[in-house]
Amino acid sequence: MKIALAADHGGYALKEFLKGHLVQRGIEILDLGTDSEASVDYPVFGWACGEAVVLGRADRGIVCCGTGIGISIAANKVKGVRCAVCTNAFMAEMCARHNDANILALGGRVLGEEEAASLVDLWIDTPFEGGGRHRRRVDALNDM
Ligand code: RB5
Repeated sequence: MKIALAADHGGYALKEFLKGHLVQRGIEILDLGTDSEASVDYPVFGWACGEAVVLGRADRGIVCCGTGIGISIAANKVKGVRCAVCTNAFMAEMCARHNDANILALGGRVLGEEEAASLVDLWIDTPFEGGGRHRRRVDALNDM
């Protein structure tokens, strides 16, 4: 599996931490920046991650900003992206199980590093329930 990672300055430190975590899990990384704590604009990075996933340069994506909110809004502008901001384990599990989220958004000023890594693991390890109503709803999202 290959995961694209993107962050603004507010999510930079968390992105760097998660890179190590993912590599330890044997997951290939596509790092789309940013590369420092210098101030940048999150829409650029959210969009880049969304494009990378939709164009098949990565299987999934993780985006980080201060809250996870701004960069998730940007990623969700790309058709085919289902980006979910998660702040706890239940959300991380459900965004995989019910929403088939292909990008996870996390807040570097909201979550601790280990907490964020545990949400990433849940999101990766929880299968989409598929079939029936969840598939129908995800298909409807994709058609919008
Ligand atoms: C940047 O200061 C901050 O606004 C950004 O990281 C994010 O939290 C926006 O949603």
